[in-house]
Amino acid sequence: MAILNIITEENPMLRKKSRRVDEITPRILTLLDDMRDTLIKANGAGLAAVQVGVLRRIALVCYEEGNIIELINPEIIDRVGSQEELEGCLSLPDQWGLVERPETVTVKAMNRDGKEFTLTASGLGARALCHEIDHLDGVIYKDKASRMLTPEELEEMYE
Ligand code: CO
Repeated sequence: MAILNIITEENPMLRKKSRRVDEITPRILTLLDDMRDTLIKANGAGLAAVQVGVLRRIALVCYEEGNIIELINPEIIDRVGSQEELEGCLSLPDQWGLVERPETVTVKAMNRDGKEFTLTASGLGARALCHEIDHLDGVIYKDKASRMLTPEELEEMYE
């Protein structure tokens, strides 16, 4: 088990586009395991490989009661409706912003056995999937936020 260091906003790597995974190597499997440990330790809703300094198209999303889903080369293949809710990110500690996202998304990805699967999620699950897949293209939620919470609002939130 290894807890990886999560890079923050100041690190220009967060703005880079991640490369596809062509082959599931032992290194990729170790990365998935370490990302899982890191996500649990950080108590986050999701984690993209770029956030631990690896520019590969890999993301983990916490889904329905602590179930963590591993997504390799994920792609959004369908979007329905819209929702606007608060969003945060492990790479932007103590910040929150309002972001519009689809209400429901369907994602196609590969699992650690190299098998393709599709996943449809609504609400928080859809939000987390969009957020993590954005990371793989160097996009952070702040770029899309209609507004960020003010220090006063944050203070109220953490009270
Ligand atoms: Co994030």
